[in-house]
Amino acid sequence: MDFFDAVKARRSIRKYTDKPVPREVMDRALDAAILAPNSSNIQAWGFYWVQDPAKKKKLVEHCMSQSAARTAQELVVVVANPSLWRKTNPEMKKFLNTLPKVPTIVKLYYDKVVPATYGWKIFTPFKWLIYNLIGIFKPFMRRPATCRDLQEVWIKSAALGAENFMLAMAAQGFATCPMEGMDEPRIKRLLRLPWSARVAMVISVGEAASNGTWGPQARFQRDWFIHYV
Ligand SMILES: Cc1cc2nc3c(=O)[nH]c(=O)nc-3n(C[C@H](O)[C@H](O)[C@H](O)COP(=O)(O)O)c2cc1C
Repeated sequence: MDFFDAVKARRSIRKYTDKPVPREVMDRALDAAILAPNSSNIQAWGFYWVQDPAKKKKLVEHCMSQSAARTAQELVVVVANPSLWRKTNPEMKKFLNTLPKVPTIVKLYYDKVVPATYGWKIFTPFKWLIYNLIGIFKPFMRRPATCRDLQEVWIKSAALGAENFMLAMAAQGFATCPMEGMDEPRIKRLLRLPWSARVAMVISVGEAASNGTWGPQARFQRDWFIHYV
């Protein structure tokens, strides 16, 4: 399917048919998810395709048993996991070492800037203060400074992965619904996620039922949202 056709075909579907979603369709979309752009290419995200029937049942309950979850064939939990940088940063450095030529600044970035940005949590108040003091005098990237900022960074990246996943499903003729109507602490316990992880959303998947949407797609005046400045 053409990219723009997939964008137009994607709708949030609240009712699915009983048609199973082939494994290769799911895997293709999951592979598309992890090709999304992400902060510093640290890939601190997780896409949990919940297949175990008991866990799936619990997950539906944790999605407030909403029909988009209840009638879904498959459920994927999209997670932002700030602590993953400790695992991926060394891999990034190994990857850089395999390249014939890497600018010194890039090596410095993964050696020094990434640990200072994503680690060093006890320095958070100092980071916040120093970044904002420098920012008074010149343009300066003031975030991420706090733990919450870090979660935001990874939620942004995870959300981009989620969109890749949903468009990939649409391109393969299947439907999805992103859900933030869920009990995040319970889902974190179900998946044994680390304390600092955040559930960005749960995505339900299946074939859209004929009455799968709540109506035509509603979008408002273009000039409220698109600005040529
Ligand atoms: C982060 C996020 C969370 C959402 N949570 C829910 C949800 O819990 N339940 C639901 O039915 N739809 C949910 N939606 C779907 C939106 O309601 C939907 O995208 C919006 O109404 C526009 O409709 P469309 O996706 O068909 O264009 C969510 C969408 C996003 C992006």
